[in-house]
Amino acid sequence: MPEVVTYEDLKVEADKVYEAFNQEFKRFERFVVDRFYAESLPTLIQQLKNEGYSVANAKSDLSDLAALGTKYTAKKSDWSTAKKQIGRIADNEKRAWAGQHLLFLDLSIRDRLGYAKLTLDEIIEDLRTARESIDVTMPGRRSRAGHLHPVTLMSERIEDIFVSLGYAVEDDREIETDFYNFDALNIPEGHPARDPQDTFYTTDGFALRSQTSTVQIHAMQRRGAPVRMIAPGRVFRRDTPDPTHNPMFFQVEGLCVDRGITMAHLKGTLAEFVHRLFGPDTRTRFRPSYFPFTEPSAEVDYSCFNCGGKGCRICKGSGWIELGGSGMVHPNVLRAANVDPEEFTGFAFGLGIDRTCARIYQLDDIRLLFENDVRFLEQFR
Ligand code: FA5
Repeated sequence: MPEVVTYEDLKVEADKVYEAFNQEFKRFERFVVDRFYAESLPTLIQQLKNEGYSVANAKSDLSDLAALGTKYTAKKSDWSTAKKQIGRIADNEKRAWAGQHLLFLDLSIRDRLGYAKLTLDEIIEDLRTARESIDVTMPGRRSRAGHLHPVTLMSERIEDIFVSLGYAVEDDREIETDFYNFDALNIPEGHPARDPQDTFYTTDGFALRSQTSTVQIHAMQRRGAPVRMIAPGRVFRRDTPDPTHNPMFFQVEGLCVDRGITMAHLKGTLAEFVHRLFGPDTRTRFRPSYFPFTEPSAEVDYSCFNCGGKGCRICKGSGWIELGGSGMVHPNVLRAANVDPEEFTGFAFGLGIDRTCARIYQLDDIRLLFENDVRFLEQFR
């Protein structure tokens, strides 16, 4: 700004600076709202919201506004230089006019900068609150609740039945020593019965249990006799996967040891179990079999829940479905668990949960149960 000393020249120069400010301030003019009218600010905010004006827009406007303020009001600005010229006007009266005129313009600049900043601060506050507030009229978001796996559902149904018959539920380890998985169950090293139950070994000599029968020994050691328990759980075998085999599957073991327990108790218990699980007309069938840890031993079948024994697709035409193995606990097993076979006798059984589950839900392939396909699993809610 050139050096000026006359009132007229100073006024022209000051008006030019003021006009330049007005030009630059135009975009902020809408933020200078008259607070006399209660509705003016809410109306402006609503209008801004309709335009999609955001907190980020307001913040950027606020920083542009601050830059404009610095440009026109800082010590080295043209405007400050103009104000300093007032004192150079020789004529007293004209110096007073110049003072008044520039003061008027100065107030106008500072006022509008101040009001615009105030409004922008209020807008930011309002937009933030709106963003954080909850619209109670919005429909709720349904949380996707999980559900139990069909094998767990099956396992719980079995547990409920045996608990109501007075059995305790045992939960035991899946990693075992040879002693519990084989020796204590009357399967010494080199016994051919180890072959079909070949399992997975750790490098330090432990084995993943190949049957839940291991829990018979733990339970008798822990509880002594008499004992009545079931033990559902995961077992492992080196079986090649096919529609009826998995290398990891579930069994439920049952053990009842007391004075005077006979095969009749075993038959009666499993008959009651299938009545409760499949219906009162279900029949059981015991076929002679061999397990090293039971003597005598039997495979248990139940009449098909679908055709009642006539023969259908589910029972593959035979009318019977395999439930599992069973028998009277071998005296050597009682001895291995420190129970006197002269005083106590007992029965035991081991049922495959996966195959039972597959039959009930009419699955052609038990591998479906562990593919973790949610579309499949969601059917069992
Ligand atoms: C046993 O495992 C004996 N421990 C059962 C037993 C317990 C007999 C107590 C006497 C007294 P087995 O190997 O047959 O028996 O297996 C029992 C059930 O497990 C089978 O009927 C079958 O339903 C299931 N099963 C066996 N192998 C597999 C496999 N690879 N995949 C899925 N289920 C299997």
